[in-house]
Amino acid sequence: MKIDGTPYRSVWVDHTDSWSVRIFDQTKLPWALDILRLTEPSQVAHAIRSMQVRGAPLIGAVAAYGLCLALRMDATGPAMEAQAAMLAQTRPTAINLRWAIGRMLDRLRPAAAGERVRLAYAEAAAIADEDVAMCEAIGRHGVPLIAEAAARKPAGTPVNVLTHCNAGWLATVDWGTALAPIYMAHDQGIPVHVWVDETRPRNQGALLTAWELGRHGVRHTVIADNAGGHLMQHGQVDLVIVGTDRVTRAGDVANKIGTYLKALAAHDNSVPFWVALPSSTIDWTISDGLSEIPIEERPTTEVTMVGGRALDGSVAMVRVTPSGSNAANPAFDVTPARLVTGLITERGRCAATAEGLRGLFPHETVPGGAEIAGMAAHL
Ligand code: MRU
Repeated sequence: MKIDGTPYRSVWVDHTDSWSVRIFDQTKLPWALDILRLTEPSQVAHAIRSMQVRGAPLIGAVAAYGLCLALRMDATGPAMEAQAAMLAQTRPTAINLRWAIGRMLDRLRPAAAGERVRLAYAEAAAIADEDVAMCEAIGRHGVPLIAEAAARKPAGTPVNVLTHCNAGWLATVDWGTALAPIYMAHDQGIPVHVWVDETRPRNQGALLTAWELGRHGVRHTVIADNAGGHLMQHGQVDLVIVGTDRVTRAGDVANKIGTYLKALAAHDNSVPFWVALPSSTIDWTISDGLSEIPIEERPTTEVTMVGGRALDGSVAMVRVTPSGSNAANPAFDVTPARLVTGLITERGRCAATAEGLRGLFPHETVPGGAEIAGMAAHL
């Protein structure tokens, strides 16, 4: 996507040295556009944990480049396995992280140590390029949903799409998942307006989605997380599109905390609830999302403190709870497949069922072996 006319991806190899890794520091957006240079795997791990990079597909791609940086330091088998395990445990819920590390290991394990750095950069680049292609295809398969909604409305009336968290290009390598159909619809001249859930506690909607949409010229309105149900009751939401951090083979969907409540409200109001994902977000090893998807618990300071720009222009963190009050911070929830109207993937749309997913992906397997696929996260 373009920022002030310049095309960017959300991760890239530095063009000048051809090996260090560049990312936007998303903790600074939208107040500052800081580009970080990562040279060591520990910096990559920190960037993922601290959410300088975030969003399921992006953390997978960045972790893949983290393994490239690790191999530059030591390309022997034991060192590679140890660094892969370290990177795979940086965040627990998004499966793309373990998927990307597993894919890298599948490529690198059989290779001689002297070949590994070159092969690793090529594989990480392939992961990044394929993510862009998958998201672009998700956009194409999602646009008809918006076009059909537009056709049901008086000419020129915008289609109101509600989204939660940030599932735009900042959360992937480019395009985004949930936002890809919105960007394409907008570019095709379909009038579209987006209700952007602010997405407490980290406010990815208010800070990142609103910024992305604004840069692209897409009409949007930021709403408090609790407003969606009311808007749906009053016919002001035509469809919901969200991204996801992990989908089970039976179609249960983990996404940013609060997504489940939007799905319940959508179900109660007969508003279509769509989930957009690349196949790298499907966890073929599990079927029951509620019992099998690990839910990340993040620091409670994300709940007790809020960051933003003060009236004097400074960027500050302020406390929003009385000192002494306890806080809890589960970062994701699981929406059962029965509440999901359908999935939008790079191969097309399908029902959120085992049959629906297998129909689109009959031969998909889990890269990296059992230890990567099932790796427990210890944060
Ligand atoms: O905690 P985050 O900001 O990494 O969570 C991101 C989300 O929940 C996104 O909706 C999800 O990763 C889909 S991204 C295309």
